Amino acid sequence: MVHHMSPAEPVLHICADLEEASLEVARKTVELAQTAVATSGQFSIVLSGGNTPRRLHEILATDYRDAVPWADTHVFWGDERWVPHDHPDSNFRMADETLLRHVPIPTGQVHPMPTQLDDPEVAADAYQTQLAELFEGKLPRFDLILLGMGSDGHTASLFPTSAALVEATAWVMPSEAPSEPRQRLTLTLPVLNNAAYVVFLISGSDKRTPMAMALDSATDSVTCPAAAVRPHSGQLHFYVDQAASPA
Ligand code: 6PG
Repeated sequence: MVHHMSPAEPVLHICADLEEASLEVARKTVELAQTAVATSGQFSIVLSGGNTPRRLHEILATDYRDAVPWADTHVFWGDERWVPHDHPDSNFRMADETLLRHVPIPTGQVHPMPTQLDDPEVAADAYQTQLAELFEGKLPRFDLILLGMGSDGHTASLFPTSAALVEATAWVMPSEAPSEPRQRLTLTLPVLNNAAYVVFLISGSDKRTPMAMALDSATDSVTCPAAAVRPHSGQLHFYVDQAASPA
């Protein structure tokens, strides 16, 4: 069931449950990947962290494993916790366990945020430099950015109180989370809003209130950072289960 808000507004897909939402996002990912590779020779995707994307990853690693052009795919992260890549809280580790180690993507095309460096500022700069190299110095325009949303309306690691939320030039910033692990790295809104296609995958009744706020363009970004994600020349789709869908 698809609800089209006004033309510039997000498109809401209400799914029966997380399984159906994950399947729909997997199908959309395959479609975007195949189109991107056919038109530009490669597909750039930004993964989100947390737990919601686990099932999506499993589906992409099994049912759709052979449909994604992994040889021409580059994987990035929207945010990362400031922990080693083998730490239980690492977004890289979650994606590696549920997806990347199960698919034939060339290692050099997997671009984790460098949490092994000395400090978050150095790491944020290093990731931005890596993006600049891969996007020929231009503001990255990712083919697909996958995002989740916290019950406080945060997305990536853009929290209501984050300085990164109002950053207008840097592409990657350190950020402080209200819960452990507090130190994070995150892409900023200039990058998120330059994407060709943004998909939020959201599940659970604790997301219902922020979900309604995120859909309302009148919501300010401090109240609900996810409401500030409005790709200026791209598409924005929310895939939500019944529990998270606005009443
Ligand atoms: C992270 C994520 C974050 C996540 C939300 C929702 O590093 O935690 O990138 O933005 O998407 O916190 O997390 P859940 O999917 O676990 O509810």
